[in-house]
Amino acid sequence: MTILAIETSCDETAVAVVENGRKLLTNVLATSLDIHVKYGGVVPDMAAREQLLSILPVLKDALAPLGPNPFEEIDAIAVTSGPGLIGSLLIGVETAKALSFALNKPLIAVNHLVGHIYANWLTSGNPDLAYHKSPPSLPALVLLVSGNHSDIVLMASHGKYVALGSTLDDAAGECFDKCGRLLDLPYPYGPYIEQLALKHDTAKSEFKLKLPRPLIHSRDLNFSFSGLKTAFLYLYKSQAEKAEISETFKAALAFELQEAVTDVLISKLSKAADLHSAKSLILCGGVAANKRLREKFQNLSQKQSLPHFIPAIKLCTDNAAYIAAAAYFNQTKTVWRDLKANPALSITSPAANFA
Ligand code: KG4
Ligand code: ZN
Repeated sequence: MTILAIETSCDETAVAVVENGRKLLTNVLATSLDIHVKYGGVVPDMAAREQLLSILPVLKDALAPLGPNPFEEIDAIAVTSGPGLIGSLLIGVETAKALSFALNKPLIAVNHLVGHIYANWLTSGNPDLAYHKSPPSLPALVLLVSGNHSDIVLMASHGKYVALGSTLDDAAGECFDKCGRLLDLPYPYGPYIEQLALKHDTAKSEFKLKLPRPLIHSRDLNFSFSGLKTAFLYLYKSQAEKAEISETFKAALAFELQEAVTDVLISKLSKAADLHSAKSLILCGGVAANKRLREKFQNLSQKQSLPHFIPAIKLCTDNAAYIAAAAYFNQTKTVWRDLKANPALSITSPAANFA
């Protein structure tokens, strides 16, 4: 079964075609990132307008490798129905509905958060993905870390997701982003925090900074990153009162932030693995691109003697390939007329509105 998927939840316009939920045939992506850089964050109206300009060219590029009659190769259309920015979501959802109607092909709505998990099911000629010979065994414990979500999920089977823990305030990605902004790094901040942290030399640096690890000892599996952001701000301000902020200080601060965030994420996942029996550990979401997190996640998998799954870096951040994979394994078909974009879905919400 070949699925064409559309993902337009934020500032990426993405279309991909995937065979049987695992084989990536085409994966095309346009981003309006350049526009948002000057504002230091995504401007929703501008993102929506760019989605409108990009969707048909991206669709055309994604279909091109399928030959002269590409729609004949497609068995179903999938689309992200939420969560995300409403203006952006609408462009993808309405395009998918139009395709489903015009081509008379089934429409499958996908929850974007569930989609992220399925990046771990994809294989392709990409050597980065070679270790994903077989998909994760279920039940799996999932650490989902994106710009707006930090969740620990027990994936009992396809379509059955139990939320074990979540953030009580900010997401891990948001914490990286807000702190990166304070350091005057370019948007998107997360990857720049990672690059800056690499410049810190623990042995040689004059700065031995310490940030809190919020809720690390709490009995539940929830997170809280808002206080960490404040502690980061205070550390920055107290240094600024003493001296000019140097690059060495910034690197030390970025390093400690990355350590604090990843320590808490991995510690809670470890607690989840002690409490729930699972057959594998899955990492996903934009923050899963962070190499320090990937390293700590691998170490945990060894400690827990559980196989681990981490998507190739380019499949961690938003794309349509994982939406197609998720659609294949969760084929809840919807009538195009009934589907509505829903910006407020959580990991356990059904993707389609059957009203
Ligand atoms: O999943 P995603 O692409 O979009 C959402 O669905 O939110 O995640 C974006 C988030 C941003 O907060 C971004 O700063 C963060 O992922 N991110 C990273 C890295 N790459 C992306 N955070 C830390 N290190 C990275 N290398
Ligand atoms: Zn995402």
